[in-house]
Amino acid sequence: MKILVTGGSGYIGSHTCLELLKMNYEVAVIDNLSNSKKTSLKRVEKITKNKIDFFKVDLLDLKKLNHVFDKFTPDAVIHFAGKKAVGESVIKPIEYYKNNLGGTINLIEVMKNHNIKKLIFSSSCTVYGLPNKVPIKEDFPVSAVNPYGRTKLFIEFLLQDVSQSDPNWNIIVLRYFNPVGADQSGIIGEDPNGIPNNLFPYITQVAVGKLPILSIYGNDYPTPDGTCIRDYIHVSDLAFGHVKAIDKLRKSSGTNTYNLGTGKGYSVLEVLSTFEKVTGKNIPHRFVKRREGDVSASYSDTTKARRELGWKANKNLEDMCKDAWHFQSLNPRGYN
Ligand code: NAD
Ligand code: UFG
Repeated sequence: MKILVTGGSGYIGSHTCLELLKMNYEVAVIDNLSNSKKTSLKRVEKITKNKIDFFKVDLLDLKKLNHVFDKFTPDAVIHFAGKKAVGESVIKPIEYYKNNLGGTINLIEVMKNHNIKKLIFSSSCTVYGLPNKVPIKEDFPVSAVNPYGRTKLFIEFLLQDVSQSDPNWNIIVLRYFNPVGADQSGIIGEDPNGIPNNLFPYITQVAVGKLPILSIYGNDYPTPDGTCIRDYIHVSDLAFGHVKAIDKLRKSSGTNTYNLGTGKGYSVLEVLSTFEKVTGKNIPHRFVKRREGDVSASYSDTTKARRELGWKANKNLEDMCKDAWHFQSLNPRGYN
């Protein structure tokens, strides 16, 4: 089976390509390299001793996108490509709408013209907005609190409309919780541009001496230790969730939505102490004021993914910390 992966050289995309190749899928990637390097895929090829067809194409370039589908006719598409920085989306909303929505619309159009109607889309737990309770189920109300979140929400609505317009479309929406860590080889991992926004890459960069101190955003939340709680999921478990979703695409119809998380929540301080314990590194930290838009607690109910995809996360917080650190310590300057 042939799978086309948009945004495949990025963090989650590269780990998913690795899992797909391990399962003997034929894989091609479209990426404009705006937030990734081709090195990630070179390394995936090295690990698996398999080839990936790479197309340096922007999804906004309809003509080139068409050419890709003429050359590599996939059975299904996994769509990761998009901009993902919440803060940046507030400053540059038009760029986010143009890239994330415009790119998805082009992709759907080209897929339709080539009669390819199987799609997996990367959504986010951000579409639950400020949830009233946890754990979060797929049928909870959706909303968004920033432009990035709204692009995810609008794309979800768009995909529902597309599948309603034509019963031959078969779409799976995966709502990720907090993907972290790296493949256990330490060869591929997360390599954000500039100063990381997210907790795990920030911690590993403090550990490796690239950044001096971790700022913890708020210790006055209504949680047992006052810091926010999140459902961190190992990126390899998440990547394997896509393999299970492809299996499901063969049998399902319409649009189906699944949470991909572990179902367990950990506070920032619990993450920090686990990281220090498994790596033996001391992470200097200080408390600063809350970060705007953070919810106090977010974690998933994973029943639906377990029941319908036959998937569950296997790796624990210690594995996530160990593997995140393994990649960072082997690659102190990321892919550079
Ligand atoms: P990433 O930035 O590492 O990967 C996204 C890739 O898409 C990059 O390689 C980038 O170069 C590419 N890209 C962006 N716009 C493009 C365009 N117009 N044409 C072609 N390529 C383009 O991000 P990631 O962490 O791997 O996330 C993948 C997807 O999962 C994104 O859609 C993101 O919104 C979603 N997601 C991520 C998280 C997270 O915490 N990492 C959480 C929930 C959802
Ligand atoms: N945090 C810190 N210091 C940091 C970075 C993060 O204390 O330097 C805290 C945050 O306040 C939060 C927790 O660590 O409590 C996790 O923060 P992340 O930025 O790692 O993750 P978020 O839950 O904020 O964001 C994730 C995804 C987004 C998505 C969002 C939806 O990265 O793409 O979930 O809620 F939109």
